[in-house]
Amino acid sequence: MTIGIHDISAATGGLVFALADLADHEGIDVGKYHRGIGQTEMSVLTDDEDIVTMAARAATPILERHGVDGIRTVVFATESGIDQSKAAGVFLHGVLGLPHEVRVVELKEACYSATAAIQFALGIVARRPEERVLVIASDNARYELDSSGEATQGAAAVAMLISASPAVLEIEPVSGLWTDDVMDFWRPNDRSTALVDGRYSVAVYLDSLEGAWKDYQSQGGAAYESFARVCYHQPFTRMAVKAQQRLARIAGDADAAGADTEHLAGTTIYNTRIGNSYTASIYLAFLSLLDNGPDLSGERIGFFSYGSGAVSEFFAGVLVPGYKQQLRPESMERMLEARRPIDYTEYRRRHVEFDRPGDFETVDETLGAVRFAGTTDLKRQYERR
Ligand code: CAA
Repeated sequence: MTIGIHDISAATGGLVFALADLADHEGIDVGKYHRGIGQTEMSVLTDDEDIVTMAARAATPILERHGVDGIRTVVFATESGIDQSKAAGVFLHGVLGLPHEVRVVELKEACYSATAAIQFALGIVARRPEERVLVIASDNARYELDSSGEATQGAAAVAMLISASPAVLEIEPVSGLWTDDVMDFWRPNDRSTALVDGRYSVAVYLDSLEGAWKDYQSQGGAAYESFARVCYHQPFTRMAVKAQQRLARIAGDADAAGADTEHLAGTTIYNTRIGNSYTASIYLAFLSLLDNGPDLSGERIGFFSYGSGAVSEFFAGVLVPGYKQQLRPESMERMLEARRPIDYTEYRRRHVEFDRPGDFETVDETLGAVRFAGTTDLKRQYERR
């Protein structure tokens, strides 16, 4: 029996801020962002968007195509949770009108947890192949204004349906794992913005890649030469280049170690325009490859999932022949183009006004069908248009 990704769809925020405007404000050469970190824009959420509304927008096309039969588990991966107790997935369950006969849970380990969600889903389907699992990765990546991480902010959600006999990607059973208790990036409970030791986090990411790859090999994983592409967690897209160079070096591919290689082609297009989307980022890289790359039917794709703190995993899957027919390439492009550009003043105002104590109503501005209306008695309210 094969198990893997049967369908995949993504959503992002309704606003966009150009890094050229951030560079202007800082009085620096925009080359630092465009080439140095590999980012041109960041998605910003409208007042009435959050991780639940993005998740609803990402999941809706999947549910419209496949229905809800057999979906008995929803796993919602995020590190920008909206409640310390209630899982964001339960709000999603409500707005999507999912059946009551479903278990819903939220998973957290920085940017890694969507990969854990997929692994849990594979186990559920292996035990009962008639079941399908809806996996959601949704995050609003926010840093302090004027901090080193500011240019890498962004927001997106990816929804994936995990099933037996998948139509998109058959996931192979071997994983390489690497966990190390470090403080490279974290967000204490009283903050809505992350704290980061930026350059240290880059070093930990690369060391984790090495650890996970070596474990992958020791577990009988596929040879480096057999990978057509590798999708990396992309806190900024240049990180994927550094990672690919490191992997090529460890794997002994001297030619690729010094260059941007074919292994990344097609995987950075969405992330360059969206920014970091934490848990969603690696699966947005995968969707970018699916939508924008050549037909790679039958080819092996590698995945390196990294979550600060730090947990990481290297695994692989094979693209199912005919997978291109399952995609909706125009959908992401339309969503990216529909974002309303905001200038530096508006970007800064929205960033500062993000944290609101007490009850409030939001401004009606999202283009999505589900909106976050505000809070009443400190209870989050969602409504469908
Ligand atoms: N033209 C071209 N390139 C330029 C340039 C110019 N005018 N000016 C600078 N650059 C290059 C620099 O040479 C550098 O390239 P290298 O990394 O290849 O040396 C690059 O632009 C960035 O410049 P700096 O290193 O000076 O940038 P910085 O220190 O201000 O910020 C950063 C870099 C620390 C990574 C920062 O973006 C940051 O803090 N990001 C958030 C943390 C992060 O994303 N960490 C990644 C690993 S952790 C993770 O993956 C989890 C997660 O999602 C957060």
